[in-house]
Amino acid sequence: MEIVCFLILALALGSVEVNCRSQSPSCWDSGLKFSFPIDVCYGVGVCRCDNFTADCSSNPDSLTFIPDLNRSYKYLNFSNNNVTSISDVSFFVNVSRDVEIIDLHSNGLTNIAEGVFHGLDNLTTLLLGGSNQFGYKAMPALLSVPSLMSVRMRCLNLGPIPQYTFQDGAFDNMHRLWKVILDNNLIQTISETTFSEKIRSSLKKVSLGGNPYQCDCNILWFQKWMRTNPVIFQDYHFRGYNCHNDYTVSIEDFVLNPQACILGSGAATLTIGIACFLIIFLVLLIVFFRFRWHVRLWLYEVCRGRRRRSRVSRGCKYDVFVSYAEEDAVWVQEELLPVLEGEWGLTLCVHHRDFRPGKHIVDNISDCVSDSERVILVFSPHFARSEWCQFELKYCQSFVMERDDVMVLVALQETQSRDMTGAMLAVLRTTTYIEWDDEQDARQSFWGRLHVALDDPEEIQVV
Ligand SMILES: *[C@@H]1O[C@H](CO)[C@@H](O)[C@H](O)[C@H]1NC(C)=O
Ligand SMILES: *[C@@H]1O[C@H](CO)[C@@H](O)[C@H](O)[C@H]1NC(C)=O
Ligand SMILES: *[C@@H]1O[C@H](CO)[C@@H](O)[C@H](O)[C@H]1NC(C)=O
Ligand SMILES: *[C@@H]1O[C@H](CO)[C@@H](O)[C@H](O)[C@H]1NC(C)=O
Ligand SMILES: *[C@@H]1O[C@H](CO)[C@@H](O)[C@H](O)[C@H]1NC(C)=O
Ligand SMILES: *[C@@H]1O[C@H](CO)[C@@H](O)[C@H](O)[C@H]1NC(C)=O
Repeated sequence: MEIVCFLILALALGSVEVNCRSQSPSCWDSGLKFSFPIDVCYGVGVCRCDNFTADCSSNPDSLTFIPDLNRSYKYLNFSNNNVTSISDVSFFVNVSRDVEIIDLHSNGLTNIAEGVFHGLDNLTTLLLGGSNQFGYKAMPALLSVPSLMSVRMRCLNLGPIPQYTFQDGAFDNMHRLWKVILDNNLIQTISETTFSEKIRSSLKKVSLGGNPYQCDCNILWFQKWMRTNPVIFQDYHFRGYNCHNDYTVSIEDFVLNPQACILGSGAATLTIGIACFLIIFLVLLIVFFRFRWHVRLWLYEVCRGRRRRSRVSRGCKYDVFVSYAEEDAVWVQEELLPVLEGEWGLTLCVHHRDFRPGKHIVDNISDCVSDSERVILVFSPHFARSEWCQFELKYCQSFVMERDDVMVLVALQETQSRDMTGAMLAVLRTTTYIEWDDEQDARQSFWGRLHVALDDPEEIQVV
Protein backbone atom coordinates (compact mmCIF):
# COMPACT_ATOMS: atom_id res chain seq x y z
CA MET A 1 0.00 0.00 0.00
CA GLU A 2 1.12 3.46 -0.79
CA ILE A 3 1.79 5.83 1.96
CA VAL A 4 0.61 9.27 0.94
CA CYS A 5 2.66 11.95 2.51
CA PHE A 6 0.82 15.00 3.59
CA LEU A 7 1.56 18.19 1.88
CA ILE A 8 1.43 20.91 4.32
CA LEU A 9 2.85 24.32 4.03
CA ALA A 10 5.03 25.79 6.60
CA LEU A 11 3.71 28.99 8.02
CA ALA A 12 3.96 31.82 5.49
CA LEU A 13 6.27 29.85 3.22
CA GLY A 14 5.00 29.84 -0.31
CA SER A 15 5.97 26.82 -2.35
CA VAL A 16 5.23 24.31 -5.01
CA GLU A 17 5.06 21.01 -3.30
CA VAL A 18 5.12 18.07 -5.55
CA ASN A 19 5.17 15.46 -2.85
CA CYS A 20 5.40 12.55 -2.04
CA ARG A 21 4.34 8.97 -2.43
CA SER A 22 7.49 7.57 -1.04
CA GLN A 23 7.63 4.68 1.37
CA SER A 24 10.01 6.43 3.65
CA PRO A 25 8.40 8.15 6.66
CA SER A 26 11.26 10.57 6.49
CA CYS A 27 9.62 12.00 3.41
CA TRP A 28 6.57 13.06 5.37
CA ASP A 29 6.11 16.71 5.94
CA SER A 30 4.37 18.49 8.74
CA GLY A 31 2.95 21.97 8.88
CA LEU A 32 -0.10 24.05 9.58
CA LYS A 33 -3.61 23.56 8.26
CA PHE A 34 -6.11 26.11 6.97
CA SER A 35 -8.76 27.27 9.35
CA PHE A 36 -11.99 25.31 8.95
CA PRO A 37 -14.55 27.44 7.03
CA ILE A 38 -18.23 27.61 7.99
CA ASP A 39 -20.42 29.15 5.27
CA VAL A 40 -21.64 27.16 2.32
CA CYS A 41 -20.48 29.02 -0.75
CA TYR A 42 -21.16 26.53 -3.56
CA GLY A 43 -23.66 23.70 -3.64
CA VAL A 44 -24.86 22.04 -0.49
CA GLY A 45 -21.72 21.07 1.36
CA VAL A 46 -19.65 21.18 -1.80
CA CYS A 47 -17.63 24.28 -0.94
CA ARG A 48 -17.39 26.03 2.39
CA CYS A 49 -15.96 29.46 2.88
CA ASP A 50 -14.96 32.11 5.35
CA ASN A 51 -13.28 35.48 4.84
CA PHE A 52 -9.94 33.95 3.84
CA THR A 53 -10.49 30.32 2.94
CA ALA A 54 -12.47 28.42 0.33
CA ASP A 55 -12.56 24.68 0.96
CA CYS A 56 -13.93 22.53 -1.85
CA SER A 57 -11.88 19.48 -0.92
CA SER A 58 -12.84 15.83 -0.68
CA ASN A 59 -16.19 15.92 -2.44
CA PRO A 60 -17.87 12.58 -2.90
CA ASP A 61 -18.98 13.76 -6.36
CA SER A 62 -15.37 14.64 -7.15
CA LEU A 63 -15.43 18.11 -8.71
CA THR A 64 -13.79 18.38 -12.12
CA PHE A 65 -13.79 22.19 -12.30
CA ILE A 66 -13.41 25.08 -9.89
CA PRO A 67 -16.80 26.74 -9.42
CA ASP A 68 -17.41 30.48 -9.24
CA LEU A 69 -17.41 31.19 -5.52
CA ASN A 70 -18.36 34.82 -5.84
CA ARG A 71 -16.12 35.98 -3.07
CA SER A 72 -12.56 36.84 -2.36
CA TYR A 73 -10.27 34.41 -0.51
CA LYS A 74 -6.59 33.76 -0.06
CA TYR A 75 -6.56 30.00 0.40
CA LEU A 76 -8.22 27.51 -1.89
CA ASN A 77 -8.37 23.85 -0.85
CA PHE A 78 -9.24 21.77 -3.91
CA SER A 79 -7.60 18.54 -2.84
CA ASN A 80 -9.07 15.05 -3.28
CA ASN A 81 -11.20 15.93 -6.32
CA ASN A 82 -11.13 14.79 -9.94
CA VAL A 83 -9.11 17.37 -11.87
CA THR A 84 -7.05 14.95 -13.93
CA SER A 85 -5.71 17.44 -16.43
CA ILE A 86 -5.29 21.18 -16.52
CA SER A 87 -4.81 21.99 -20.18
CA ASP A 88 -7.18 24.93 -20.68
CA VAL A 89 -5.53 28.26 -19.86
CA SER A 90 -8.88 29.54 -18.53
CA PHE A 91 -9.02 26.77 -15.92
CA PHE A 92 -8.41 29.13 -12.98
CA VAL A 93 -10.75 31.85 -14.22
CA ASN A 94 -13.11 31.33 -11.24
CA VAL A 95 -10.32 31.58 -8.72
CA SER A 96 -10.03 34.81 -6.74
CA ARG A 97 -7.19 37.04 -7.96
CA ASP A 98 -6.22 37.41 -4.31
CA VAL A 99 -5.45 33.74 -3.87
CA GLU A 100 -2.07 32.99 -2.35
CA ILE A 101 -2.26 29.25 -1.74
CA ILE A 102 -3.89 26.55 -3.89
CA ASP A 103 -4.02 22.96 -2.70
CA LEU A 104 -4.54 20.56 -5.59
CA HIS A 105 -3.09 17.41 -4.12
CA SER A 106 -4.57 13.96 -4.82
CA ASN A 107 -6.60 14.80 -7.91
CA GLY A 108 -5.00 12.26 -10.21
CA LEU A 109 -3.45 15.17 -12.09
CA THR A 110 -1.10 14.19 -14.88
CA ASN A 111 -0.37 17.48 -16.59
CA ILE A 112 -0.50 21.22 -16.14
CA ALA A 113 -0.28 23.42 -19.19
CA GLU A 114 2.12 26.31 -19.20
CA GLY A 115 0.52 29.67 -18.53
CA VAL A 116 -2.60 28.51 -16.65
CA PHE A 117 -1.53 30.41 -13.54
CA HIS A 118 -1.22 33.63 -15.48
CA GLY A 119 -2.91 36.50 -13.64
CA LEU A 120 -2.72 34.95 -10.19
CA ASP A 121 -0.14 37.49 -9.18
CA ASN A 122 -0.22 36.79 -5.45
CA LEU A 123 0.13 33.02 -5.76
CA THR A 124 3.03 31.93 -3.66
CA THR A 125 2.20 28.30 -2.88
CA LEU A 126 1.00 25.33 -4.88
CA LEU A 127 0.45 21.94 -3.27
CA LEU A 128 0.56 19.27 -5.96
CA GLY A 129 1.44 16.00 -4.24
CA GLY A 130 -0.60 12.96 -3.31
CA SER A 131 -1.94 10.86 -6.15
CA ASN A 132 -0.94 13.38 -8.80
CA GLN A 133 1.59 12.01 -11.22
CA PHE A 134 3.94 14.38 -12.87
CA GLY A 135 7.52 15.12 -12.22
CA TYR A 136 9.53 17.58 -14.20
CA LYS A 137 6.59 17.77 -16.63
CA ALA A 138 4.97 20.33 -14.32
CA MET A 139 8.05 22.53 -14.29
CA PRO A 140 7.27 24.78 -17.28
CA ALA A 141 3.92 25.71 -15.71
CA LEU A 142 5.43 26.28 -12.28
CA LEU A 143 8.41 28.24 -13.55
CA SER A 144 6.03 30.66 -15.24
CA VAL A 145 4.62 31.73 -11.87
CA PRO A 146 7.05 34.47 -10.89
CA SER A 147 5.53 34.90 -7.43
CA LEU A 148 6.24 31.34 -6.29
CA MET A 149 8.55 31.22 -3.35
CA SER A 150 9.72 27.65 -3.28
CA VAL A 151 9.93 24.55 -5.41
CA ARG A 152 9.57 21.31 -3.52
CA MET A 153 9.76 18.00 -5.34
CA ARG A 154 11.04 15.41 -2.97
CA CYS A 155 10.82 11.63 -2.84
CA LEU A 156 9.36 11.40 -6.36
CA ASN A 157 11.93 9.08 -7.86
CA LEU A 158 12.73 11.91 -10.25
CA GLY A 159 15.56 10.93 -12.52
CA PRO A 160 18.26 13.15 -13.94
CA ILE A 161 17.04 16.67 -14.53
CA PRO A 162 16.27 16.86 -18.23
CA GLN A 163 17.93 19.69 -20.07
CA TYR A 164 14.68 21.23 -21.29
CA THR A 165 13.24 21.36 -17.79
CA PHE A 166 15.58 23.93 -16.41
CA GLN A 167 16.94 26.00 -19.20
CA ASP A 168 19.79 28.32 -18.43
CA GLY A 169 18.66 30.71 -15.73
CA ALA A 170 15.26 28.96 -15.51
CA PHE A 171 14.54 30.30 -12.04
CA ASP A 172 15.61 33.85 -12.82
CA ASN A 173 12.05 35.14 -13.21
CA MET A 174 11.07 33.92 -9.75
CA HIS A 175 12.11 36.95 -7.78
CA ARG A 176 10.73 35.64 -4.50
CA LEU A 177 12.14 32.13 -4.80
CA TRP A 178 14.16 31.26 -1.76
CA LYS A 179 13.78 27.52 -1.41
CA VAL A 180 14.48 24.57 -3.69
CA ILE A 181 13.81 21.09 -2.34
CA LEU A 182 14.68 18.21 -4.64
CA ASP A 183 16.02 15.66 -2.19
CA ASN A 184 15.60 11.88 -2.34
CA ASN A 185 15.13 11.56 -6.04
CA LEU A 186 17.33 9.90 -8.65
CA ILE A 187 19.16 12.99 -9.78
CA GLN A 188 22.68 12.11 -10.95
CA THR A 189 24.03 15.48 -11.90
CA ILE A 190 22.94 19.07 -11.57
CA SER A 191 24.01 21.40 -14.29
CA GLU A 192 25.75 24.58 -13.33
CA THR A 193 23.53 26.52 -15.72
CA THR A 194 20.35 25.41 -13.94
CA PHE A 195 21.04 27.86 -11.14
CA SER A 196 22.32 31.17 -12.38
CA GLU A 197 24.66 33.28 -10.29
CA LYS A 198 21.78 35.60 -9.48
CA ILE A 199 19.41 32.92 -8.19
CA ARG A 200 22.18 31.22 -6.25
CA SER A 201 22.75 34.39 -4.32
CA SER A 202 19.06 34.78 -3.45
CA LEU A 203 18.35 31.18 -2.36
CA LYS A 204 18.12 30.64 1.38
CA LYS A 205 17.49 26.94 1.47
CA VAL A 206 18.53 24.20 -0.90
CA SER A 207 17.95 20.53 -0.26
CA LEU A 208 19.40 18.17 -2.82
CA GLY A 209 20.56 15.27 -0.67
CA GLY A 210 19.69 11.61 -1.05
CA ASN A 211 20.37 11.58 -4.77
CA PRO A 212 22.78 9.16 -6.48
CA TYR A 213 25.30 11.71 -7.68
CA GLN A 214 27.82 10.90 -10.34
CA CYS A 215 31.05 12.37 -9.04
CA ASP A 216 33.20 13.67 -11.88
CA CYS A 217 34.29 17.00 -13.29
CA ASN A 218 30.66 18.14 -13.54
CA ILE A 219 30.13 17.92 -9.79
CA LEU A 220 32.98 20.24 -8.86
CA TRP A 221 30.98 23.45 -9.29
CA PHE A 222 28.31 21.98 -7.00
CA GLN A 223 30.90 21.02 -4.43
CA LYS A 224 32.22 24.57 -4.52
CA TRP A 225 28.71 25.97 -4.13
CA MET A 226 28.12 23.78 -1.07
CA ARG A 227 31.45 24.66 0.47
CA THR A 228 31.02 28.39 0.04
CA ASN A 229 27.38 28.39 1.24
CA PRO A 230 27.12 25.85 4.04
CA VAL A 231 24.14 27.64 5.59
CA ILE A 232 21.73 27.19 2.70
CA PHE A 233 22.66 23.52 2.45
CA GLN A 234 21.72 22.71 6.03
CA ASP A 235 19.65 19.68 5.19
CA TYR A 236 17.31 19.27 8.08
CA HIS A 237 16.11 15.79 7.18
CA PHE A 238 18.87 14.26 5.13
CA ARG A 239 22.55 14.73 5.08
CA GLY A 240 23.55 12.38 2.33
CA TYR A 241 25.23 14.10 -0.55
CA ASN A 242 27.10 11.02 -1.66
CA CYS A 243 28.89 9.91 -4.75
CA HIS A 244 26.93 7.08 -6.31
CA ASN A 245 30.02 5.79 -8.09
CA ASP A 246 31.84 5.58 -4.76
CA TYR A 247 29.54 5.19 -1.76
CA THR A 248 32.29 5.77 0.75
CA VAL A 249 32.91 9.28 -0.51
CA SER A 250 30.66 12.26 0.02
CA ILE A 251 30.63 15.10 -2.47
CA GLU A 252 32.20 17.20 0.26
CA ASP A 253 35.24 14.89 0.35
CA PHE A 254 35.38 14.16 -3.35
CA VAL A 255 38.78 15.07 -4.73
CA LEU A 256 39.63 15.53 -8.36
CA ASN A 257 42.46 17.44 -9.89
CA PRO A 258 40.74 20.55 -11.26
CA GLN A 259 43.48 20.78 -13.87
CA ALA A 260 42.28 17.49 -15.31
CA CYS A 261 38.83 18.96 -15.82
CA ILE A 262 40.04 22.22 -17.29
CA LEU A 263 42.30 20.25 -19.58
CA GLY A 264 39.49 17.83 -20.35
CA SER A 265 37.07 20.39 -21.70
CA GLY A 266 39.77 22.67 -23.06
CA ALA A 267 41.59 19.86 -24.78
CA ALA A 268 38.42 18.70 -26.49
CA THR A 269 37.78 22.17 -27.88
CA LEU A 270 41.42 22.51 -28.87
CA THR A 271 41.45 19.14 -30.61
CA ILE A 272 38.33 19.97 -32.57
CA GLY A 273 39.76 23.36 -33.47
CA ILE A 274 43.03 21.92 -34.69
CA ALA A 275 41.25 19.15 -36.57
CA CYS A 276 39.02 21.67 -38.34
CA PHE A 277 42.01 23.84 -39.18
CA LEU A 278 43.95 20.87 -40.55
CA ILE A 279 41.03 19.71 -42.66
CA ILE A 280 40.50 23.16 -44.11
CA PHE A 281 44.21 23.52 -44.74
CA LEU A 282 44.34 20.12 -46.40
CA VAL A 283 41.35 20.85 -48.60
CA LEU A 284 42.87 24.15 -49.65
CA LEU A 285 46.13 22.40 -50.38
CA ILE A 286 44.44 19.74 -52.48
CA VAL A 287 42.40 22.32 -54.35
CA PHE A 288 45.48 24.43 -54.92
CA PHE A 289 47.45 21.42 -56.10
CA ARG A 290 44.66 20.29 -58.37
CA PHE A 291 44.38 23.76 -59.95
CA ARG A 292 48.00 24.77 -59.66
CA TRP A 293 48.36 25.24 -63.39
CA HIS A 294 45.27 27.42 -63.55
CA VAL A 295 46.66 29.48 -60.70
CA ARG A 296 49.93 29.89 -62.53
CA LEU A 297 48.22 30.92 -65.71
CA TRP A 298 46.10 33.39 -63.81
CA LEU A 299 49.09 34.86 -62.00
CA TYR A 300 50.96 35.04 -65.26
CA GLU A 301 48.09 36.82 -66.96
CA VAL A 302 47.77 39.30 -64.11
CA CYS A 303 51.49 40.17 -64.03
CA ARG A 304 51.92 40.09 -67.74
CA GLY A 305 48.74 42.02 -68.40
CA ARG A 306 50.02 44.97 -66.44
CA ARG A 307 53.16 45.19 -68.56
CA ARG A 308 51.47 44.60 -71.86
CA ARG A 309 52.61 47.02 -74.46
CA SER A 310 50.95 47.84 -77.69
CA ARG A 311 53.22 46.49 -80.31
CA VAL A 312 53.61 47.87 -83.73
CA SER A 313 54.01 45.26 -86.40
CA ARG A 314 57.23 45.61 -88.29
CA GLY A 315 55.91 43.66 -91.22
CA CYS A 316 58.21 40.69 -90.65
CA LYS A 317 58.23 37.51 -92.62
CA TYR A 318 57.87 35.36 -89.51
CA ASP A 319 55.85 35.81 -86.37
CA VAL A 320 58.07 33.73 -84.15
CA PHE A 321 61.63 32.50 -84.29
CA VAL A 322 62.05 29.29 -82.31
CA SER A 323 65.49 28.51 -80.89
CA TYR A 324 65.87 24.91 -79.74
CA ALA A 325 68.40 22.11 -79.47
CA GLU A 326 68.47 19.35 -82.07
CA GLU A 327 67.35 16.84 -79.42
CA ASP A 328 64.16 18.83 -78.78
CA ALA A 329 63.20 18.97 -82.46
CA VAL A 330 60.60 16.24 -81.93
CA TRP A 331 58.79 18.30 -79.34
CA VAL A 332 58.85 21.39 -81.55
CA GLN A 333 57.61 19.34 -84.48
CA GLU A 334 54.86 17.47 -82.68
CA GLU A 335 53.68 19.83 -79.96
CA LEU A 336 54.62 23.41 -80.72
CA LEU A 337 54.14 23.66 -84.47
CA PRO A 338 50.65 22.10 -84.60
CA VAL A 339 49.32 24.56 -82.05
CA LEU A 340 51.12 27.75 -83.01
CA GLU A 341 50.89 27.30 -86.74
CA GLY A 342 47.91 24.97 -86.98
CA GLU A 343 45.60 26.53 -84.39
CA TRP A 344 46.87 30.03 -83.80
CA GLY A 345 47.80 30.70 -87.40
CA LEU A 346 51.27 32.05 -86.64
CA THR A 347 54.21 31.67 -88.95
CA LEU A 348 57.22 30.11 -87.26
CA CYS A 349 60.85 30.08 -88.22
CA VAL A 350 62.40 26.76 -87.20
CA HIS A 351 65.86 25.91 -88.34
CA HIS A 352 65.26 22.37 -89.56
CA ARG A 353 62.68 23.69 -91.98
CA ASP A 354 63.30 27.35 -92.68
CA PHE A 355 67.10 27.74 -92.74
CA ARG A 356 68.27 28.06 -96.30
CA PRO A 357 70.67 25.36 -97.34
CA GLY A 358 73.96 26.60 -98.68
CA LYS A 359 73.82 29.77 -96.62
CA HIS A 360 76.15 30.06 -93.66
CA ILE A 361 74.43 29.12 -90.44
CA VAL A 362 75.25 32.48 -88.78
CA ASP A 363 73.61 34.31 -91.66
CA ASN A 364 70.63 32.01 -91.42
CA ILE A 365 70.25 32.77 -87.73
CA SER A 366 70.69 36.49 -88.19
CA ASP A 367 68.17 36.60 -91.07
CA CYS A 368 65.64 34.54 -89.24
CA VAL A 369 65.86 36.56 -86.00
CA SER A 370 65.69 39.90 -87.75
CA ASP A 371 62.73 38.68 -89.81
CA SER A 372 60.75 37.50 -86.75
CA GLU A 373 58.54 39.58 -84.48
CA ARG A 374 59.09 37.39 -81.43
CA VAL A 375 61.48 34.78 -80.14
CA ILE A 376 60.80 31.55 -78.28
CA LEU A 377 63.75 29.91 -76.53
CA VAL A 378 63.21 26.25 -75.70
CA PHE A 379 65.32 25.72 -72.56
CA SER A 380 66.45 22.21 -71.71
CA PRO A 381 69.69 20.51 -70.70
CA HIS A 382 70.32 20.01 -74.41
CA PHE A 383 69.95 23.71 -75.01
CA ALA A 384 72.66 24.34 -72.45
CA ARG A 385 75.02 21.91 -74.17
CA SER A 386 74.37 23.09 -77.71
CA GLU A 387 76.85 25.68 -78.90
CA TRP A 388 74.52 26.96 -81.62
CA CYS A 389 71.75 27.39 -79.14
CA GLN A 390 74.04 29.43 -76.91
CA PHE A 391 74.96 31.53 -79.86
CA GLU A 392 71.32 32.07 -80.78
CA LEU A 393 70.54 33.00 -77.20
CA LYS A 394 73.23 35.66 -77.07
CA TYR A 395 72.29 36.94 -80.49
CA CYS A 396 68.61 37.15 -79.60
CA GLN A 397 69.43 38.83 -76.32
CA SER A 398 71.21 41.71 -77.95
CA PHE A 399 68.63 41.87 -80.68
CA VAL A 400 65.73 41.91 -78.26
CA MET A 401 67.39 44.66 -76.25
CA GLU A 402 67.75 46.78 -79.34
CA ARG A 403 64.29 46.23 -80.67
CA ASP A 404 62.16 45.76 -77.56
CA ASP A 405 60.92 42.48 -78.92
CA VAL A 406 59.11 39.79 -77.04
CA MET A 407 61.35 36.95 -75.87
CA VAL A 408 59.57 33.97 -74.40
CA LEU A 409 61.27 31.21 -72.39
CA VAL A 410 59.88 27.71 -72.48
CA ALA A 411 61.42 25.15 -70.12
CA LEU A 412 61.02 21.61 -71.39
CA GLN A 413 62.59 19.79 -68.48
CA GLU A 414 63.78 20.68 -65.06
CA THR A 415 67.14 22.22 -65.83
CA GLN A 416 69.47 22.46 -62.83
CA SER A 417 71.22 25.78 -62.48
CA ARG A 418 74.62 24.06 -62.52
CA ASP A 419 73.78 22.81 -66.04
CA MET A 420 73.02 26.29 -67.26
CA THR A 421 75.33 28.72 -68.86
CA GLY A 422 75.79 32.24 -67.56
CA ALA A 423 73.73 33.67 -70.40
CA MET A 424 70.85 31.33 -69.66
CA LEU A 425 70.90 32.25 -65.98
CA ALA A 426 70.95 35.94 -66.87
CA VAL A 427 67.88 35.54 -69.07
CA LEU A 428 66.12 33.47 -66.44
CA ARG A 429 66.70 36.16 -63.88
CA THR A 430 64.90 38.78 -65.92
CA THR A 431 62.28 36.74 -67.76
CA THR A 432 59.60 34.42 -66.44
CA TYR A 433 59.67 31.05 -68.03
CA ILE A 434 56.81 28.72 -68.93
CA GLU A 435 57.21 25.06 -68.02
CA TRP A 436 56.04 22.23 -70.19
CA ASP A 437 54.45 19.26 -68.47
CA ASP A 438 52.69 16.26 -69.98
CA GLU A 439 49.78 16.44 -67.59
CA GLN A 440 46.47 17.58 -69.09
CA ASP A 441 45.91 20.59 -66.81
CA ALA A 442 49.53 21.60 -67.09
CA ARG A 443 49.34 21.59 -70.88
CA GLN A 444 46.29 23.84 -70.86
CA SER A 445 48.05 26.19 -68.53
CA PHE A 446 51.15 26.10 -70.73
CA TRP A 447 49.30 27.03 -73.88
CA GLY A 448 47.38 29.71 -72.02
CA ARG A 449 50.51 31.30 -70.67
CA LEU A 450 52.35 31.01 -73.92
CA HIS A 451 49.47 32.68 -75.63
CA VAL A 452 49.51 35.56 -73.16
CA ALA A 453 53.26 35.81 -73.57
CA LEU A 454 53.00 36.03 -77.32
CA ASP A 455 50.62 38.87 -76.68
CA ASP A 456 47.47 38.48 -78.68
CA PRO A 457 44.89 37.04 -76.35
CA GLU A 458 41.84 37.87 -78.45
CA GLU A 459 42.65 35.65 -81.35
CA ILE A 460 42.39 32.20 -79.84
CA GLN A 461 40.47 30.39 -77.19
CA VAL A 462 42.25 28.46 -74.52
CA VAL A 463 39.85 25.75 -73.39
C1 LIG B 1 -7.45 20.42 2.44
O1 LIG B 1 -8.46 19.53 2.81
C2 LIG B 1 -8.03 18.24 3.15
C3 LIG B 1 -9.26 17.43 3.57
O2 LIG B 1 -10.23 17.44 2.57
C4 LIG B 1 -7.05 18.27 4.28
O3 LIG B 1 -6.57 16.97 4.52
C5 LIG B 1 -5.88 19.18 3.90
O4 LIG B 1 -5.02 19.32 4.97
C6 LIG B 1 -6.41 20.54 3.51
N1 LIG B 1 -5.32 21.33 3.06
C7 LIG B 1 -4.81 22.32 3.77
C8 LIG B 1 -3.67 23.02 3.18
O5 LIG B 1 -5.28 22.66 4.85
C1 LIG C 1 -15.34 38.66 7.79
O1 LIG C 1 -15.59 39.93 7.13
C2 LIG C 1 -16.66 40.65 7.67
C3 LIG C 1 -16.86 41.94 6.86
O2 LIG C 1 -16.31 41.89 5.63
C4 LIG C 1 -16.38 40.94 9.12
O3 LIG C 1 -17.49 41.58 9.67
C5 LIG C 1 -16.10 39.63 9.87
O4 LIG C 1 -15.74 39.89 11.21
C6 LIG C 1 -15.02 38.88 9.22
N1 LIG C 1 -14.83 37.59 9.86
C7 LIG C 1 -13.66 37.15 10.30
C8 LIG C 1 -13.68 35.79 10.92
O5 LIG C 1 -12.65 37.79 10.20
C1 LIG D 1 -16.81 28.93 -13.42
O1 LIG D 1 -17.92 28.77 -12.57
C2 LIG D 1 -19.13 28.49 -13.24
C3 LIG D 1 -20.25 28.45 -12.19
O2 LIG D 1 -19.86 27.82 -11.05
C4 LIG D 1 -19.02 27.16 -14.00
O3 LIG D 1 -20.20 26.87 -14.69
C5 LIG D 1 -17.84 27.25 -14.99
O4 LIG D 1 -17.65 26.01 -15.62
C6 LIG D 1 -16.59 27.67 -14.25
N1 LIG D 1 -15.55 27.86 -15.22
C7 LIG D 1 -14.43 27.11 -15.23
C8 LIG D 1 -13.47 27.45 -16.31
O5 LIG D 1 -14.21 26.23 -14.44
C1 LIG E 1 -22.63 36.90 -4.92
O1 LIG E 1 -23.54 36.68 -6.01
C2 LIG E 1 -24.84 37.19 -5.78
C3 LIG E 1 -25.68 36.85 -6.99
O2 LIG E 1 -25.58 35.48 -7.27
C4 LIG E 1 -24.74 38.70 -5.57
O3 LIG E 1 -25.99 39.18 -5.25
C5 LIG E 1 -23.77 39.01 -4.42
O4 LIG E 1 -23.59 40.41 -4.30
C6 LIG E 1 -22.43 38.39 -4.68
N1 LIG E 1 -21.59 38.59 -3.53
C7 LIG E 1 -20.32 39.03 -3.62
C8 LIG E 1 -19.57 39.14 -2.34
O5 LIG E 1 -19.83 39.29 -4.70
C1 LIG F 1 -13.41 11.63 -12.80
O1 LIG F 1 -13.96 12.21 -13.96
C2 LIG F 1 -14.01 11.35 -15.07
C3 LIG F 1 -14.56 12.15 -16.25
O2 LIG F 1 -13.86 13.35 -16.34
C4 LIG F 1 -14.89 10.17 -14.77
O3 LIG F 1 -14.89 9.26 -15.84
C5 LIG F 1 -14.38 9.47 -13.53
O4 LIG F 1 -15.27 8.44 -13.15
C6 LIG F 1 -14.26 10.45 -12.39
N1 LIG F 1 -13.68 9.81 -11.21
C7 LIG F 1 -14.18 9.89 -10.00
C8 LIG F 1 -13.43 9.15 -8.91
O5 LIG F 1 -15.18 10.52 -9.78
C1 LIG G 1 -1.73 41.03 -3.74
O1 LIG G 1 -1.58 41.31 -2.37
C2 LIG G 1 -1.40 42.66 -2.06
C3 LIG G 1 -1.21 42.79 -0.58
O2 LIG G 1 -0.23 41.87 -0.17
C4 LIG G 1 -2.58 43.48 -2.53
O3 LIG G 1 -2.39 44.83 -2.28
C5 LIG G 1 -2.82 43.25 -4.00
O4 LIG G 1 -3.99 43.88 -4.41
C6 LIG G 1 -2.92 41.79 -4.31
N1 LIG G 1 -2.96 41.58 -5.74
C7 LIG G 1 -3.94 40.94 -6.33
C8 LIG G 1 -3.85 40.80 -7.85
O5 LIG G 1 -4.86 40.45 -5.70
